[in-house]
Amino acid sequence: MKRYAFVTGCDHGLGLTLAEQLVHRGYTVAACRIDEQEKQIDALAERWPGQVIILPLDISSDGSVRKAAAELPFPGLDLLINNAGILGHMDDGPDDALDFELMQKVINVNAVGTLRVTAALLPLLEKGNGKTVVNISSEAGSITDCERVGWFGYCMSKAANNMQGALIHNTLRKMGGRVFQIHPGHVATYMRGHLDTTARITPDISAAGILKTVLDVDHETEERPLYLDYQGNRLPW
Ligand SMILES: NC(=O)c1ccc[n+]([C@@H]2O[C@H](COP(=O)([O-])OP(=O)(O)OC[C@H]3O[C@@H](n4cnc5c(N)ncnc54)[C@H](OP(=O)(O)O)[C@@H]3O)[C@@H](O)[C@H]2O)c1
Repeated sequence: MKRYAFVTGCDHGLGLTLAEQLVHRGYTVAACRIDEQEKQIDALAERWPGQVIILPLDISSDGSVRKAAAELPFPGLDLLINNAGILGHMDDGPDDALDFELMQKVINVNAVGTLRVTAALLPLLEKGNGKTVVNISSEAGSITDCERVGWFGYCMSKAANNMQGALIHNTLRKMGGRVFQIHPGHVATYMRGHLDTTARITPDISAAGILKTVLDVDHETEERPLYLDYQGNRLPW
């Protein structure tokens, strides 16, 4: 039986690695990228003809999401990984000149954008076997564990991402599906505009842990989505 997955933000970083590992697991993957100049996903598609479909996608845009959903040639969707995200300003605290416009952009991508994609793909998820949505959230979205004094846009966006995931879970659960909110760990990617050499793990380690946690471990179906790190440890909401 063929299995179908959709991954956002596959230009580079964790999304690209998740797409690659899903292909190795036998999935046919719709790998979405926002920037057509980013060619790494083309190399994967060339290596796995027919198993990787590249779709242009900007999750901040209603039109772009609608178009990608309409062009998706899958009979159903087993797994949706909402990975795309942006950081915004990391260091600004309440005494700094806060960039509210940038904050709205971060929230529109990380929280609203994630919901935009899931809502557009819900009819296909309903037809799939897995009916699984994985939202790449962050420990930064935990209100219980909040110790920072700034990074408002990102932290608020990931907390809102967690809430939209909980709301979607209540719909998917009735169809036999579920949502996972996942913290991928501190991963060496280019999210900060350069390779983050302070990171603890590679995208390969993070992606392998996420897919093992989501696809290989038997989880009880719970009323609430699971909020886990890439090793399967629970995070406080
Ligand atoms: N790296 C970490 O330590 C860490 C920790 C916690 C959570 N996360 C989360 O992990 C996810 C993946 O991040 P990453 O570390 O792999 O960073 P990354 O390499 O910057 O990946 C983010 C991806 O999202 C894409 N993207 C940005 N805006 C988009 C939009 N509007 N529509 C569609 N795609 C868009 C980026 O494309 P372009 O770069 O080409 O614009 C890129 O492909 C994010 O949700 C992030 O918040 C990462």
